[in-house]
Amino acid sequence: MSPRPTGIIVCINDRFTASKPSCARGGSVAIADALEQAIAERGLALTLERLHCLGECALGPNLRLAPGGRFFHHVKLADIPAILDEIEKELG
Ligand code: FES
Repeated sequence: MSPRPTGIIVCINDRFTASKPSCARGGSVAIADALEQAIAERGLALTLERLHCLGECALGPNLRLAPGGRFFHHVKLADIPAILDEIEKELG
């Protein structure tokens, strides 16, 4: 069982070579900004950390629950409310 989430890590890595995937090319910077705003609006006790690469580049944009929680792959801006709904359930 994963520990109770205390934060969300968002990969904002951007590669200069178009031949290799990176989360920023899929809009992860905007996703991180929108998540941060939504966390504040909901008053959730979650931190948001922007990180350069979670090692799942082909599946991005990627998020991961911290500490050591599960991944969310292929995240889109429209997914944010559902992701936060899920996390809120885990927070109880
Ligand atoms: S570039 Fe995002 S996980 Fe590697």
